[in-house]
Amino acid sequence: MKKARGTQDFLPVDIVKWEYVENYFKNICQRFGFKEIRTPIFENTSLFKRGIGESTDVVSKEMYSAFNSREYYKFIQDKNLHTSSPDEVMKLFLSDKNRLTLKPEGTAPVVRAFVENKMYADAQPTKLFYNTPCMRHERPQAGRFRQFHQLGIEMFGADSPASDAEIIALAYTFLSEIGISNVEIRINSVGCSKCREKYNKLLIEYLETKKQNMCSTCLERLEKNPMRTLDCKNENCQENISDAPLMLDNLCEQCMEHMESVKNHLNIIKLPYIVDPMIVRGLDYYTKTAFEIVHNGLGAQNALCGGGRYNGLVEQIGGPEISGVGFGLGMERLMIALDVEGVKLPEPKRLDLYVVAVDESCATMATKIVHLIRQMGYSVDRDFLDKSVKAQMKYANKINAKYTMVVGQDEIDNDKYIVKNMDTGDEYTLSFKDIYNKDIYNMDEDIKNIIADIFES
Ligand code: HAM
Repeated sequence: MKKARGTQDFLPVDIVKWEYVENYFKNICQRFGFKEIRTPIFENTSLFKRGIGESTDVVSKEMYSAFNSREYYKFIQDKNLHTSSPDEVMKLFLSDKNRLTLKPEGTAPVVRAFVENKMYADAQPTKLFYNTPCMRHERPQAGRFRQFHQLGIEMFGADSPASDAEIIALAYTFLSEIGISNVEIRINSVGCSKCREKYNKLLIEYLETKKQNMCSTCLERLEKNPMRTLDCKNENCQENISDAPLMLDNLCEQCMEHMESVKNHLNIIKLPYIVDPMIVRGLDYYTKTAFEIVHNGLGAQNALCGGGRYNGLVEQIGGPEISGVGFGLGMERLMIALDVEGVKLPEPKRLDLYVVAVDESCATMATKIVHLIRQMGYSVDRDFLDKSVKAQMKYANKINAKYTMVVGQDEIDNDKYIVKNMDTGDEYTLSFKDIYNKDIYNMDEDIKNIIADIFES
């Protein structure tokens, strides 16, 4: 059997690296005053439709919506949809209130949790961070998966441009401190509902004159979300609309002031950024600041981090009028970027001690010793397959154990155990003072100290 397309297994050797990066992010978030939140892996489909926007690629094409086939056929039966097209049936089925969807991104669930748990009643701002798997049915390619992981933050209740800059500063601090240098921060403003409405009219007027040279996706976007045409990766389309009016030149006074102030805050802490009027983002909830951090070694999928302000979203999800700003950063892309930049990540920790039991009659003593030394906080393992002493030593070598200890009848009779350092060959003699009749939970302190001295040496 093979894994599903667009998914990945993470093996122990990967996990140590992932944990290191995840903990790094956690520490930076805590340094900036953010607290962790975890939300369910699935949510009601309506949350994403309402939050992200029905016309976005994520909602209209990429969501994994869960149902069981019995439910589906019952739906067809109840609604008498036998003669409708499969696409039509699926659309109706998914529009049903009770559908569930695997989360395609982290923001909408965090906003839902913020509203549902009345976190808006606490002292504001609320500063949250998360680390979550996300699922999108996209065409897999380098840096693009169907299950991927986002490290993200969301800040609620702060309107000030300083908070937008704070979010960008957190992402940049994390990336540069962990060792990523080849990045570019691109910022833009997508305006507010007032200036966007005016701008959309202007843009549609312009796009109508360019229709004959547009790709089918752009034609669709022209109808549903004209600003997204600026984001088309098709070279012909880019050329076709190269002199399109830009949101940045059509901001209302308030949005313009906001943008200038965000830039000032970034300037004051010397964060390098460029203003890129083509950053429009693929999710509908953004207002004012939108930004991406791209990495130049990532190929086509070069967006490492994306985010911005979303002032109407909390209300949209049923909460009070309260603003939000945040970002999502893809773990898979970050791991590729770290690799491209040659950043050394930790290797799995070595086992402190491998206990070799000579034969069956020594097995219980081995159990006791293993348990005792584990109690002291060291990593210890032993054989469970009745291997010969030689095979056990070979195994200890293979797993790169730091120390070995042989437990045979002679060792037990004389209460003398040899602990061998596998790197240097140095040997230490250990005596437990009759461990057989002793309670390992109340071992003499001096024995514990001797054990600690060996393993800390
Ligand atoms: P997004 O730009 O859709 O924004 O995703 C954020 C990041 O997730 C991307 O920059 C990328 O690194 C990663 N990503 C997205 N799709 C994939 C994929 N198929 N495979 C691998 N990595 C992927 C959001 O999701 C917003 N919720 C960000 C946000 C938070 N805005 C405000 N707060």
